Amino acid sequence: MPRKILVTNALPYANGDIHLGHLVGYLQADIWVRFQRMRGNTVHYVCADDTHGTPVMLRAEKEGLTPEALIARVHGEHLRDFTDFGIAFDNYHSTHSEETRRYAEDIYARLQAAGLIDVRAIEQFYDPVKEMFLPDRFIKGECPKCGAADQYGDNCEVCGAAYAPIELKNPRSAVSGATPVLRASEHYFFRLSDPRAATFLRAWTRGESRPGVRRLPPEAANKMREWLGEEGDNKLSDWDISRDAPYFGFEIPDAPGKYFYVWLDAPIGYFASFRNLADKRGGIAVEDYTDAGKAAATGTEMVHFIGKDILYFHALFWPAMLEATGYRTPSQLCVNGFLTVNGAKMSKSRGTFITARSWLDQKLDPEALRYYFAGKSNGSMEDVDLNLDDMIARVNADLVGKFVNIASRCAGFIEKRFGGLLGDIDISATDAFAAAWAADDVAAAFEARDYSRALRDIMRLADIANQYVNDRKPWELARQQGKDTELHTVCSTALTLFRDLACYLKPVLPRLTMQVEAFLDVPPLDWRGEWQPLPAGHRIQTYRHLTTRIERTQIDALLEANRASLAPISAPATTTPATTTISIDDFTKVDLRVARIVEAAHVEGAEKLLRLMLDIGEAKPRQVFAGIKSAYAPETLVGRLTVMVANLAPRKMKFGLSEGMVLAASDPEGKHSGIHLLSPDNGATPGMKIK
Ligand code: MSP
Ligand code: ZN
Repeated sequence: MPRKILVTNALPYANGDIHLGHLVGYLQADIWVRFQRMRGNTVHYVCADDTHGTPVMLRAEKEGLTPEALIARVHGEHLRDFTDFGIAFDNYHSTHSEETRRYAEDIYARLQAAGLIDVRAIEQFYDPVKEMFLPDRFIKGECPKCGAADQYGDNCEVCGAAYAPIELKNPRSAVSGATPVLRASEHYFFRLSDPRAATFLRAWTRGESRPGVRRLPPEAANKMREWLGEEGDNKLSDWDISRDAPYFGFEIPDAPGKYFYVWLDAPIGYFASFRNLADKRGGIAVEDYTDAGKAAATGTEMVHFIGKDILYFHALFWPAMLEATGYRTPSQLCVNGFLTVNGAKMSKSRGTFITARSWLDQKLDPEALRYYFAGKSNGSMEDVDLNLDDMIARVNADLVGKFVNIASRCAGFIEKRFGGLLGDIDISATDAFAAAWAADDVAAAFEARDYSRALRDIMRLADIANQYVNDRKPWELARQQGKDTELHTVCSTALTLFRDLACYLKPVLPRLTMQVEAFLDVPPLDWRGEWQPLPAGHRIQTYRHLTTRIERTQIDALLEANRASLAPISAPATTTPATTTISIDDFTKVDLRVARIVEAAHVEGAEKLLRLMLDIGEAKPRQVFAGIKSAYAPETLVGRLTVMVANLAPRKMKFGLSEGMVLAASDPEGKHSGIHLLSPDNGATPGMKIK
């Protein structure tokens, strides 16, 4: 019986670019999905953008966009990156969708009905300037353990200590710089401390996704034992699932001003994307995959691919929530380790924080990365290192030197000497391949997500095929009289072996193998049935060059591009004192002018902005949106002089074009509040240059 599997990848946050670290897990899943399909199994492969939460809200604000506009743009970018790397989701949806809202409300209602929602007040840091509660990552201060400056509210990057934000010394808001204050507010909790949760999770952890296959990798099961403690322990605390306005997310029914925490609706996004797919495509029985009873009856599987940093959410909260509400629980978690580049954490300054897009921009083959990452994946949670020199050597040696080389040395003779028609096969030379096919070892390695072992086996077969060509030397046979039949057989045999290698490599190299299928003129290669050679008399197409070597210069350009272009994407900006010096030339690049504010007005829908019209002696005044609303009533500004940056690139904002910037003082430490617009001394007139 073919299996029916819902496969998901973790939903990337909608506030940053896809980078090579992300791709580790997405490629592992995509390879597995392609493999399963080649075996004849039914797979629904879904993902979505994870759109809710404070970082998206603040990032949108910073870019002068609505959150909806930001997530729409990012959705397009993410989908394009995934597609260009051959990651072929059946559906790429968004958690900001009606499907997600419906599932979230349903799960919440069922939790409530089961008595598993608690409401109680907690104290949290609140930013009095920005008027919002601050997530841990948006609070910075000195580490309570070692005193290191500038550490986040949840843990210290210097000594590794974990703590609560209120323990930080000299805390400040990373959003406004203000000193946060403690404030109480009511929060909603999922009662994970209910002993039924731990009991269920212990059993679930020990379970199998199918006979002989562990539900969790051993390292993850160990973590679970640590989190759950011994039988009878109750170590789980209730989970805070609400956040206060302002928050970008779904408001909790009957709880005005309270929103579902982003991690509550993120995994629900898996179901939402699947439902959306079923609605678009038809013919998919969604409940067979999502309802506990129906899933048990129909034997469907749900397999989540995630990175090791989000295990807690997928192995504790998510299954506990599903179990308590009558939904099906995950069959299996496939957990990937983190990517390092050249042995170190990805680094912006070294250029090793490499975006998916920059790889493509350098015209590097996405399948080279697929191949290299596959060779580094063994189904464990170990970190994966991208060693760039090793990558160049591996890809060039294996794909160009071993795989493509077989076809490029034989195809021309078939076309030129035998009219494109294959001849008889040298069956003894194909024994090793037929035996490997029957033994199914390569398939078993793919099934276990040990792609590294699969590729080692495949390359061993490629060595056998190359040895055969080296021994039989078609290029010499071609020069000898009366050797036509032998030449025909050698080339036809080699192309059969090449076809087999392509079939094995297909989950890893979908595009390259599609070109091979076209060249050999065979139907899509799959992994079923008996081993068969290509038949005599079969016509192949003209061989075209299949792949190129990677050059070190391309990698150097890649690192350079990432060093040059990457601005921080997810960490909140904090104010820091000026440290670096600039030359006078740098300074004079800034065209500063005296400006007269001729109009000032509120901007509908903008919390912080005023719209200013500035006269700098040009034919018509310039429009500038300035974040000074908290400090100035518009009518007090009209007529006064200030200082403007006149050569700032115009910026399209939600409210219109901003054609410059006005200058104002504020305290980066947040000790003194307020925003203070600059003014020239008496006698200055609009348009005067400031230097
Ligand atoms: N939005 C959450 C996931 C919600 S799933 C219901 C999230 N997003 S993420 O963008 O930070 O990460 C997306 C995936 O990429 C996660 O599986 C994460 O573990 C993985 N990785 C992010 N950076 C990574 C590396 N540097 N290396 C390997 N995987 C990495 O987490
Ligand atoms: Zn510390």
